[in-house]
Parts: sequence; structure tokens; C-alpha cells
Amino acid sequence: MEILDYKFLQLSTEGHIAILTISRPESLNALNKDVIQELTYAMLHLEKDENCRCIILTGSGEKAFVAGADIKEFADFTSEQASQLAKNGHENLFNVIENLTTPVIAAVNGFALGGGLELAMACHMRFASEDAKLGLPEVTLGIIPGYGGTQRLPQLVGKGRAAELIFTARMLDATTAKYWGLVNDVFAKENLLPEVKKIAEKISKNSPLAISKAIACINQSGKEFGFQLEITSFGELFEMKDKKEGVSAFLDKRKPNF
Ligand code: COA
Repeated sequence: MEILDYKFLQLSTEGHIAILTISRPESLNALNKDVIQELTYAMLHLEKDENCRCIILTGSGEKAFVAGADIKEFADFTSEQASQLAKNGHENLFNVIENLTTPVIAAVNGFALGGGLELAMACHMRFASEDAKLGLPEVTLGIIPGYGGTQRLPQLVGKGRAAELIFTARMLDATTAKYWGLVNDVFAKENLLPEVKKIAEKISKNSPLAISKAIACINQSGKEFGFQLEITSFGELFEMKDKKEGVSAFLDKRKPNF
């Protein structure tokens, strides 16, 4: 896998797993225009890489996953500039991650606030370190979440809890975030990456074709054509190579090799 020269990202690979680390320590990894652009580029690049079967997204340093959108960058924006910022984020990064055909796991290693929590919520699953703090504090700034938070949070935790988190701007500790269903599991800080890598390794042994179809179907859950997409995708997979290998391996009593 090619290692590209990013300014705000570190990319490393271990077997079929790519670990993408956001690195802007002076701003607790806050998302400015350049970070967003590099993340988009990296995600699309990794999606095309057939060797990459799972992406882990995390933050550099001891303190933060991502402490939000860069407040200093948008401080003087007009209404039009702000809408454009949100639209660009939705279209070019957050929706891209959600719809990526390669699974993306957020390893939340500290503060995940505002755009940082929205970034984690755009990933297909989230795991947190014991000291993680998660919240959407935008109303304290007189704004609302603009990178999908008002839509993805209710899907994950229900409308009532989403309203509580957004209206109060409180930060959830990792245990409460797990209890709410916002993160799948919580690990001691030093175990976060090793544990998430184990999950990524399990994923990368399974059929990439089937997983990419499952992502698309899960993203349609609760929507009008969700069941139809599942039916169509189920059928399509029957004429793809992974189904032949997976079913043959079962019948031959061996492990599949995708
Ligand atoms: N945008 C821009 N800069 C940010 C930032 C953000 N979202 N979050 C943190 N930073 C910067 C701080 O301004 C500070 O820079 P400085 O040293 O030049 O002053 C640096 O990162 C360290 O942050 P600091 O606030 O000193 O750390 P802390 O440990 O006292 O507090 C937080 C940590 C996360 C609680 C606090 O930084 C914070 O509340 N950040 C903003 C969170 C937020 O509202 N996010 C939503 C944005 S829409």
C-alpha cells in the first residue's frame, strides 16, 4: 500500500488494516479545511486499495480524538460561507465515510466533541477509551451541529437522548456513551488500539464483497427502499466470487480464503 505525504494525517498499515491518525496536536486535532480535504482523499484512496479491508480512524496525542470543527476558522463566516462549510463537509467527507465500501471504525481516544463526534458517528462503528468524553457542545457557541449530528445522533441513541445531549451540551463519559449505544464498547486507554485492531482483523477475514453490500443495506435501514436493497444485494452476491469461495469452504470443511 502506498504511503502518501499528508500534513495532518498519519497513515500506517498492518496486513489488511489501515490506521489513519488525525494529527493536529496544537488544536486537539480540530477539523479545518485542510484536515477535511486530506481525510476525504485518504478515505477514497484506501477504498480503492484492494489490500485494505478495514480502516481505523483515531486521533494523535493523549487528549483528543477530535475536539470539533475548527472554531477559529469559521469564527467570522457569513451565513453563506457557513452553509457552504457544512455542505462541503456532508458531501465530501461525512457522507463519503458513511457510504465507503470499506468498513471504517472510529477509535475514540479522548475528546470527541462537535465535528469530532459527528466524524465518529459517520464511521460504521465506534469504540472508546475509558477517558473519552463525547458531546455536541455547539449550542454553547450559538450554533447547531452542522456535520450531520442532528440526524445521525437520533439514529444511534433515539430522539430523546439526542435532544438531551444537544440541548444541554453535556459531555458523556465513555461508560454512559456505551450505555446509550453511542459507542459499541469501552477499553482501557492502552488497550483501545490493540482491541480495535482485533475487531478489524476479524472483519478483514470475511468477504469484502459481502461486507460492502452489508454497509449499503445497513445505511438504508429505516428508509423506504431498505428491504428492497437487501433483496437485490442478496441476489447479486450469489453471482460474485466470494459466495462461491465461502460456500465451497463450508462444504469442504475448511476456512474460506477471500
Ligand atoms: N477549534 C479550534 N481550536 C481548538 C478547538 C476547536 N474546536 N478545540 C481546542 N482548540 C485549541 C484551543 O483553542 C487551544 O489552542 P491555544 O493553545 O492556541 O489556545 C488548544 O486547542 C488546546 O485546547 P484547550 O482548550 O487549551 O484544552 P483544554 O484541555 O483546556 O480543553 C476542550 C479541552 C476540548 C474541553 C476545549 O478545548 C474545548 O472546549 N474545545 C472546543 C470544543 C467545541 O466546542 N467543539 C465544537 C466545535 S463546533
